[in-house]
Amino acid sequence: MKPTQNDRYWWADRIAYQIYPRSFRDANGDGTGDLKGITEKLDYLRDLGVGLLWLSPVYRSPMDDGGYDISDYRDIDPLFGSMADMDELLREANKRDIRVLMDLVINHCSDEHPLFQKALAEPGCEEEGFFYFRRTSDGNPPNNWRSMFGGSAWERTADGRWYLHLFSKKQPDLNWENPTLRAKLYDMIRFWLDKGLGGFRIDAIVHIKKQPGLPSGPRNEPDGMVDCFPYARNIPGIGDFLTELREQTFDRYQCVTIAEAAGVPNRQLADYIGPNGYFSTMFDFSYAEPYSYGHGWHTCKNPGEWSFRCWRDALYASQLETQKVGYGAVFTENHDYPRAIQKFVPEKDHAPEVQKMLGIFYFFLRGMPFIYQGQELGMTNPGFTSIDRINDISTKNHYRVALADGLEPAEAMRLVARYSRDNARVPFPWDDSENGGFSPAGSAEPWLPVHPDYRTVNAAAELADPDSVLAFYKKMVALRKSERLFVDGTFAPVLKRYDKLVAYTRTGADGRRAAVICSFSDRARTVKLPFAVGKVLLASHGEVALSHCPDGDVLTLKPYQGVVLEG
Ligand code: NOJ
Repeated sequence: MKPTQNDRYWWADRIAYQIYPRSFRDANGDGTGDLKGITEKLDYLRDLGVGLLWLSPVYRSPMDDGGYDISDYRDIDPLFGSMADMDELLREANKRDIRVLMDLVINHCSDEHPLFQKALAEPGCEEEGFFYFRRTSDGNPPNNWRSMFGGSAWERTADGRWYLHLFSKKQPDLNWENPTLRAKLYDMIRFWLDKGLGGFRIDAIVHIKKQPGLPSGPRNEPDGMVDCFPYARNIPGIGDFLTELREQTFDRYQCVTIAEAAGVPNRQLADYIGPNGYFSTMFDFSYAEPYSYGHGWHTCKNPGEWSFRCWRDALYASQLETQKVGYGAVFTENHDYPRAIQKFVPEKDHAPEVQKMLGIFYFFLRGMPFIYQGQELGMTNPGFTSIDRINDISTKNHYRVALADGLEPAEAMRLVARYSRDNARVPFPWDDSENGGFSPAGSAEPWLPVHPDYRTVNAAAELADPDSVLAFYKKMVALRKSERLFVDGTFAPVLKRYDKLVAYTRTGADGRRAAVICSFSDRARTVKLPFAVGKVLLASHGEVALSHCPDGDVLTLKPYQGVVLEG
């Protein structure tokens, strides 16, 4: 597969950036980020080299799950502004050759959506069939599926019915088996594409097909419930829905679609992102989290000592499989994770140069790189100390489950500080003024606390510092754009015998090659390269110590050093 301009892969050489609108820039001073705030900052994004801009949801929503609970798909929530603001943002972004992507949340909607409200009010009405409503005779939920946010995936209605929600109880699942509902969704998608949208990031799409009969499963935790994944993720038959979705919508426009499609087996990758795939590309979750949780954060398997080799094997395997069929989307941060440095590097070693190495390791993988707001500043977790400062519903659920399982509040809070999604949702620090310049002076208090480091880690300070993480991200962007091999070059892992090292080559169609070598070790180390180095294209920090030998060069890496070499 050779991505070229003006074809299915027109977007592949772009740099994508994710905005969590509530936390990016508050233009009207109400303490919440808004669309006008984003428009204000488009030049910042253009100067960073951004070509695609994914906005987490800005539709009308009661904000139970940060806008991933939509009550009107065709309107903008007043929190973020108006449709006129959205139109202006699209216009201004297009002027700067930035294509805007919205978040398409169509596995579920909000319980406040008029269709669900009708279904609640009138049992037996047509709209009831747009959701999964069931009655039981024993007073128990229809099955023992656990919701992804904790607790049963079923909620009882006042009149004794149950409805399915794989996420929060305010996010009823839409019943894709219903053709009338599907037609409504396609119509809504075309409405947005007709506005000139660049495409969509597509939320939780692998869950739209449920195992027929919605069967219970053998419990896998003491709570008596079972993970819903085996019954509601990539279930056979999902392809029919996704093909229809593509044909009725995306295929008719020049748009890019990025699926949130965790857990797709390799043998199905081509169906998802091959030349005739359902989507343009999908996020690679194989290496996003080095550890796995049980039914709560406190049952997390080995958080401190995850296996570097297993994690790296997953990364390499996924790169190799993906390049056989299409083109992936790579990332280390988004609005659902704590900051990457927290996941991959012990706290004692957190430093700006380590942030730069973490940038290098993923940015030159084969796939379109996504930068999550604040990542380019090297933001860290803010260190939450009180559950009262948390907004995220999933964090609150995990906290509750931990307390119910006997943890002391202080211990449960330590888990919150480590894993909460709100870690990445605190306001973006623009400068060192009050509230980090997130809101104009004298505004309402921001909806989440500003990061305690905002006086030093902020965009203005980093724009002025040639050695900042931001300046480094700009160098990475420039390098990726300067060499076509970073877009479509073949990926191959190298130096696999070394632990705590991510090392790979990218080889272009003309045989030119670059090597990316990143050390995740806190010690200096020497690595014997299987090739001679032409020149050093980029280094996270310090000099690059190379000695030339007849059978390949020797590289001495500083702790956490990352380099890109020509060779
Ligand atoms: C994935 C989104 O990224 C996350 O923020 C959300 O909570 C769930 N899907 C449910 O929509």
